[in-house]
Formats: sequence, structure tokens, C-alpha cells
Amino acid sequence: MTGNNLAIIILAAGQGTRMRSRLPKVLHQIGGRPLVGHVLTTAGRLEAEHVEVVVRHERDQVVAALEKDYPAAVFIDQDEVPGTGRAVQVAVDALPADFDGDVLVLSGDCPLADADTLRSFLDAHRAAEAEATLMTAVVDDPTGYGRVIRDADGGVDRVVEQKDATADEAAVSEINAGMYVFRVATLRKYLPSVGVDNAQGEMYLTDVPGLLRRDGSRVAASVVSDVTVTYGVNDRAQLAEVGRLLNRRIVRRWQLEGVTVIDPATTWIDDDATLAPDVTILPNTHILRATAIAEGAIIGPDTTLVDCEVGADAIVRRTDATLAVIGAEATVGPFSFLRPGTVLGARGKIGAYVETKNAEIGEGSKVPHLSYVGDATIGRGVNLGASTITANYDDVNKHRTVVEDEVHTGSHTTLVAPVRLGAGAKTGAGAVVRKDVPAGSLAMSVAPQRNIEGWVEKNRAGTGAADAAARTRVAE
Ligand code: UD1
Ligand code: CA
Repeated sequence: MTGNNLAIIILAAGQGTRMRSRLPKVLHQIGGRPLVGHVLTTAGRLEAEHVEVVVRHERDQVVAALEKDYPAAVFIDQDEVPGTGRAVQVAVDALPADFDGDVLVLSGDCPLADADTLRSFLDAHRAAEAEATLMTAVVDDPTGYGRVIRDADGGVDRVVEQKDATADEAAVSEINAGMYVFRVATLRKYLPSVGVDNAQGEMYLTDVPGLLRRDGSRVAASVVSDVTVTYGVNDRAQLAEVGRLLNRRIVRRWQLEGVTVIDPATTWIDDDATLAPDVTILPNTHILRATAIAEGAIIGPDTTLVDCEVGADAIVRRTDATLAVIGAEATVGPFSFLRPGTVLGARGKIGAYVETKNAEIGEGSKVPHLSYVGDATIGRGVNLGASTITANYDDVNKHRTVVEDEVHTGSHTTLVAPVRLGAGAKTGAGAVVRKDVPAGSLAMSVAPQRNIEGWVEKNRAGTGAADAAARTRVAE
């Protein structure tokens, strides 16, 4: 079915006024990619000979957002003549003159039509041997859509836009989904006859079925049973609703692949993310972009992972991480902030209130509490004591900290970079390490403690502290 004789035209030139946005409508994102990106991804699965995207409003921005990810797409500029009919016409004009197959027309703002739905739609068109086939759906609330008007025999007669509909026509609940298959010859023949004499002064693609019928040609309709595949985005409320439906579909796909998702309603998984069997996702978790999670890992609750790699059986809870790699059986969280370039080795630990950035932390190494580790290379079996901080920034440049295998730092150690701690070295509590520490050495930088006896009673007479101290002395 695919490959042969198919061109796909994606309409993306409209402004999307109802979004009230400076961003073109088709670039608004759901599931980690622009609306029109979903349509292009699906188009790619159909392996058409030609994929064209019609652009006009903010065309440079739209093209720039898409050309890298969809190199096979050809961008076609619509001229000043408005309307979906004109959009398709400029795209058809750009097809090779000897192309004589079918044209599948899709809208850049309808991201939920999946490849299986479109394949059956094409099959239905070819089986019906129609000049044109419309995808239609029967909906509870047809407001805003074009209505499909049938003739006495139940065949498609024409499509009437909401703004041009009489009260009777507006009451029809079968809507035009905005997806069509046409023989390219049909479009070449009929589009030149489409005028702009309508409520919106636009060339309507939806005039073509009526023109065909007037000539006695056959127009088929393929009524989809799952109306959600036809949902388009015209405003921000629909953006959220369509985003939710897409997410529900993605979550379900992973559930069927063996992923436990405790609460689908609060679990958001982008289309590009991949999850292995026996992963468990706890509530309120966002698995974004190209994040990949290996078998048995437990993620969440309250966790956001952007472009992260999580190893098998790792546990990541209440964490915010971007471009980080978390090794197998490692544990992260709660309340950890992993910034780009964090690489945590197998069985490692990044614990509570720890921030990391551009830091390699070796196998089995632990940063358990209250630390900042940035621009650092940490070896294996290292334990950074509570509140160990890499002072990586000297107000002008960033510098690297190197901590070799089996180093243990005391609580509240400050590592002033550039600095190196040799294998097995230790630091005393509160140490400020400004010089390299040779392997096996203990670094101390805090002055020996001096106790001044009686200081409180002398200098803080009458306070609770002085009274408490006095009572202790009497008791002795
Ligand atoms: C269109 C259909 C309507 C159908 C609905 C389904 C027409 C006239 N109406 O209405 O019957 O029920 O889709 O969602 O076709 N576009 C261009 N160039 C233009 C105008 C629009 O490329 O000059 C693109 C838009 O970017 C959008 C798509 O075409 O991706 C649909 O345009 P839109 O204005 O949203 O049409 P609807 O009013 O939704
Ligand atoms: Ca629309």
C-alpha cells in the first residue's frame, strides 16, 4: 500500500489566530514535539513518495523548527490567496507533472491521526475507487467543523463550513475531519474552479467534493469510530485536551509493553522516550524528550527527567534531571537536582538536597547529603561527606575538581578547584581544600579547637544559657 503513488500534503500555513500566541499554532508542543511534528512523524511511517508541508505564517520559524528532524519534507510557500484550497493547490503544483497517484491531505493542527488509521483510510479510498474520500466522524458537538451533507441515497453531497451553514446544516452531527484522499488528477482539474465567494473569503478545499458531485463523480466518506483521531487544535483548551489524549495513548502503549504506571493521569511521557519492561513509574512523573529507562528502574513520585538515561534497577525519586546518565542500581533523590553532564556510575548514590552538574561520579560512589558537585571527576568507591561542596567558580572561570578512588571527605568539606584528591585520601570536617592532597593523606585545614571556660556566664549573665551552665556546675 505504502510507497507507491502516494503524496502527502500537510497544511501548516494558517496563522492560528485562536491560539492568541506569538508562536505559530503548528509549533505548539504536545508530547515533546510540535503539533505538525507529530503529523510529519506519522507521514514518515506511510513511506509516501512525496511529503510536502505548506507554510506561510512565520514560515521561516516553522521551517527552521522542522527541517532538521524531517529532512524528507519539502516546504512549499503559499501565496497571498487564503484558504485550504489554495494551500493544497500550491502543493499540487509543486509535485512532478508525471505524478499521477493519490494525494493524502492532512492538517498540521491534527496530531492524533495515527499511521494505522491513515492506512485504513487509504485502503478505503482505493477500495471505493472514488475520486475523493473524506474522513468524517459523528460527534456530540460539531461546533467549528465543516458539516458533511449527505444526499437522499446517503452518499456525500458536499461539505458546508460552519460559517456558511444554514441552521439545518449546522445541526448535522457528521463532521469533516479535515483529512482527505484525492486522485491528483481530480485536484488538478477541480481546484482552479474553487472560488472565494464564502463567509471567510477563502478558497475552501471543502468545495471540491460538491464540485465533483455536480459532475456526477463519486465522493466516498470513511467514518472513523474513534473520533479522537480527528481532534484538531484551534485554541489552548484544545491544545491541553489533545495533549492529554496523546499522553494517554503513549502511557497505554508502554503499559502494554510491560511498564507499571501507577497513575496514568499524572504521568507524562513524551513520544520519543523509551521504557523497558518492568519499569515502574510512580505518580506525578514527567519522562521527557529522548529519555531512556532500563529494565526494573523505579521512577518517581514527583520526578522530571529530560533527555536522561537511567540504568537497570535504578531508583530515582523526587528528582529533577536533565541530560544526566544514572547507572544501573544507582539511587537518586529525594530532592536531587541533576544538571547536564551528570554521569552517576552503577550502584552510586546522589542523595537528598544534592545538586550536580558536569560531574562524573564513579561506580559505587556516594554523594548522600546537601552537596554541590560541579565540573568534577569523582572516582570509584568515593564518599563525599554531608555538605561537601566543589567551589568550581573563581568569579571568572570554572575549574575542575578531581577526586580519585576511595576518597572519603569529612562533613562540610569545600574543594576549591582546580584541586585533586589522590586515591584513598581523607579530609577533616570543615576542611577548605585549596591544595592537592596526595594519595593516602588526611587534609585538615580547620584550626585546633580552643575552649574558653566560663565565657558564657561571664559574658551572657542572666540568659537561659548562662543559667543552664550554672546549674550544671552546681550539680558537679
Ligand atoms: C478545516 C475545514 C473544516 C474541517 C476542519 C477540521 C476548510 C475550509 N475547512 O476548518 O471543514 O471540519 O478543518 O479540522 O478546509 N491552512 C493553510 N492555509 C490556509 C488556511 C489554513 O495551510 O490558507 C492550514 C492551517 O494551518 C491548518 C489547516 O490548514 O493546519 C486547517 O485550517 P483551519 O483554519 O484550522 O481550518 P478549520 O477552520 O479548522
Ligand atoms: Ca483547524
